[in-house]
Amino acid sequence: MCAIPTETVYGLAADATNESAIKRVFDAKGRPTDHPLIVHVATLEDAKAWISDFPDWAIKLAEKYWPGPLTLVGNRTALAIDLVTGGQDTVAVRVPAHPVAQQLLKDLKSHDVQGLVAPSANRFGHVSPTTAKHVETDLADYLVKHGDLILDGGQSSVGLESTIVLITGNDPVILRPGAITKEDIESTTGLKVSENSVAKPRVSGSLESHYSPKAEVILVNGSNIPDEVGAGFIGLNTNQIPEGLTILLSAPNLESYASGLYQALRHCDELGLTKIYAVLPEGEGLAKAISDRLSRASN
Ligand code: TXA
Ligand code: MG
Repeated sequence: MCAIPTETVYGLAADATNESAIKRVFDAKGRPTDHPLIVHVATLEDAKAWISDFPDWAIKLAEKYWPGPLTLVGNRTALAIDLVTGGQDTVAVRVPAHPVAQQLLKDLKSHDVQGLVAPSANRFGHVSPTTAKHVETDLADYLVKHGDLILDGGQSSVGLESTIVLITGNDPVILRPGAITKEDIESTTGLKVSENSVAKPRVSGSLESHYSPKAEVILVNGSNIPDEVGAGFIGLNTNQIPEGLTILLSAPNLESYASGLYQALRHCDELGLTKIYAVLPEGEGLAKAISDRLSRASN
């Protein structure tokens, strides 16, 4: 087991065919073992060892967005054990773009490792880590005690977990929004994409309360931001920020909002602030993914 950087968030990685290593991942995170994991591989060809059938449109998605922040959920092959899939007939697979993750997957492949499970490297329910330091904050006790390493690959560039797309039906279904948007998927496949928010137990990131800092996250729109000393602000730099608020994130655009969000949520706890006023970004695409994470953090 080893914590690794990816372009979305840091993951806690283990050989996806090694049951005892995977059990340690659940243990370190404090995560229930019926929550399925994502298998990370180096290429689309490697993904075919895990997912038995890719419709043509899913191949198009993989060719366009892999390596990158996209996870495909398809029917599993015999390689995917129950501990990885949560006992389901499907398995989630992703090809990460971060050069350190890519190199590691390629090197391990030459040692017959066919994939790595890698849930976000945070304690279960907490904010996902976007730096090696964040991983240390959450997991150092466990990692140091057991001699496990963190590979430091700098700050994750995307900053939100991958878009998860179900590929077992006729049309794509988004199970978790991310940087690859509904519009991206529709234009690549030419198909109508639906969004499924009822996948609750299947997608732990879809539990209502998740991605949560200690501080209370209060969602506001750009025109009703209260002025309150001792509270933090997260939003776009086009918002009028009241003087009393501590600015945790004032992002110039949606990409920076996404990449800085988790850092800002964690920074709030470090400063000992008990409340955060977070302005939901308007619009489709990445704005939806940011709003999704903020509303879960606020529950
Ligand atoms: O960006 C990411 O996806 C990051 C990085 C490290 O790759 N990983 C990540 O893993 O977010 P995790 O375990 O925190 O979230 C994986 C999500 C969970 O919500 C899980 O329920 C869902 O993927 N998932 C895994 N297998 C599934 C399946 N067969 N069907 C539906 N959802 C599945
Ligand atoms: Mg997670």
